[in-house]
Amino acid sequence: MCGIVAARTTEPVAPILLGALKLLEYRGYDSAGVSIRTSGGDSATTRTIDRVESLEARVGAWSGAELPGTGIGHTRWATHGAVTEQNAHPHQDCSGRLSLVHNGIIENAGALRRELEEQGHVFASEVDSEVIGHLVEEGLRHDDDLARAVTAAVGRLEGSWAVVVLDGQTDRLVAAAHRSPLLVARSARGVFAASDINAIGEWVEHFQAMRDGDVVELADELRWSRGGLASEEPPMADSVWTGASIGVDGHPDFMSKEIAEQPDVAARIVDRLAPHVLDGSLWADLALPHFDRVTVLGCGTSLNAGRMIGGALSSLGRVPVRTLVASEAADAVMEPRTLVLALSQSGETADLLNAIEHLDLTRSSLVAITNNEHSTLARRADSVLTCDAGPEIGVAATKTFVAQVITGVAAALSALVASERMLRSDAVRHSDELRLMPELLAHAIAVSHEVLPAIVADVLDEPGFLFLGQGTGVVLAAEGALKLKELSYRWAEHQPAGELKHGPLALVDRGTPVLVIDSGDPRIDRSIAEVDARGGRIVRIGGPGSTVPVVGLGRPAGPMAGARRWGPLEAVVPLQIFARDLALALGRDVDKPRNLAKSVTVE
Ligand code: M6R
Repeated sequence: MCGIVAARTTEPVAPILLGALKLLEYRGYDSAGVSIRTSGGDSATTRTIDRVESLEARVGAWSGAELPGTGIGHTRWATHGAVTEQNAHPHQDCSGRLSLVHNGIIENAGALRRELEEQGHVFASEVDSEVIGHLVEEGLRHDDDLARAVTAAVGRLEGSWAVVVLDGQTDRLVAAAHRSPLLVARSARGVFAASDINAIGEWVEHFQAMRDGDVVELADELRWSRGGLASEEPPMADSVWTGASIGVDGHPDFMSKEIAEQPDVAARIVDRLAPHVLDGSLWADLALPHFDRVTVLGCGTSLNAGRMIGGALSSLGRVPVRTLVASEAADAVMEPRTLVLALSQSGETADLLNAIEHLDLTRSSLVAITNNEHSTLARRADSVLTCDAGPEIGVAATKTFVAQVITGVAAALSALVASERMLRSDAVRHSDELRLMPELLAHAIAVSHEVLPAIVADVLDEPGFLFLGQGTGVVLAAEGALKLKELSYRWAEHQPAGELKHGPLALVDRGTPVLVIDSGDPRIDRSIAEVDARGGRIVRIGGPGSTVPVVGLGRPAGPMAGARRWGPLEAVVPLQIFARDLALALGRDVDKPRNLAKSVTVE
């Protein structure tokens, strides 16, 4: 899973490719590279297993022929082959005439490689993508037309691809896509292709999303084909790029900025959605059929957000809710009149898209809750609820979790009102609760920054962490453990508090950090006592009297707790800040944790 970009421009292409790669780095940062056609009629390829800044320095030091306007670039998240310069894209054919960048997985790469090697092709890397270059090279031997050679090459592939091939000899660029995102755009500045519109948004106003099976020549006039026959163009969409470059705005890192943005994000969503909750119109406007049950689908943090929303639907409206981890969902049996809630920040997560493709949704409706209204998920859904969180650059999801939960809970309340599963008076109470979210989140941020540094200093050397909760607290515990693992590289486990005595209590030793999300259920005190008796180090996240008193703005838990059957969402804030502070103290890169990528577009 990777980010790719290609451009044929009227100005030097190197800064455009490098700028785009910086914006695509969230898709993988194991290596980066560019191939640019030189004024001498060949291609200059530069690669690094370092970050894009280092690639920029290498390209800046280029002393060969001029690098004018045609090139391709890639930022890699390794799937096949170790993180080495040799395995970094762009890859070449045997002659070096062709360069290519690829995002996806070629499942039959082994067989194709053996066949090509028997024909005399010499491979320079261990990477599956390299077969594409050799297949195109083979095609050009029979027919010297790049678009036809690419069509023939992708016709041999199994798996997923967004690929762009640059012919250094003829200065032609051809792109092909199948089950991997690739957007194509044209403007007075040139012709562009990229995995994500943000990467090229500065240069274009409209774009087209390639469909499965599309091949397009990136020339002054885009030439679209499918299976070798000229085809209709995909529909045009407006680029949503704001013109502002995305920076940390005075914060030390994107994660810090994105945590701090949460109250504003919440306020924006609440202002937009809350007026349409109580009359049921938020739901009615989605124009979906009635549903009897809900299936929640997602991965990682999005799955946790879905669990929170599912919790609201079942606890407030008695709707039967099932939650499926997307990578395990393909064989699930779908009952008629099921509403499928598919959550994904990026809308491009392959496990989720694969689940949707394999599930029998003929008698169900699919609602996407996503931060990317142009994504593949959004295009496949019957209706889309946009999260409106703005770009999230840190690999760890923070503000998008909050945005997904608020958006989803608002829609859930509206659906319950519209289907008369909830009394209007109850809906008023819960909708008021939604309106409080910006304030609650701001309070949680302030308290966490005050209280957590000392706690983090205390547990810095601990190898493992337990997270406990009850009810919705279990979901928040899961989210806290996920954040801690991905950022600090320390072991973390979450458990329903009641399960502790059935096994996990054996993990607790003197000083073991146990973070307890206290969502107002008095039974949590028993689990706390059990940990306490074994010398565990309890960090209680909840209302008054807790170590991190972020819940309910210091109000007594009683009546509020009764009303808050879907929260306390603000308890996620100390979990995010705890994980970030610990990771920073351990010297980790919180925006780009090792081995990960923001958008996981391979299964
Ligand atoms: O783009 P998505 O929301 O579909 O991504 C799903 C997960 O990969 C993602 O939430 C991941 O778990 C985060 N890095 C967690 O912070």
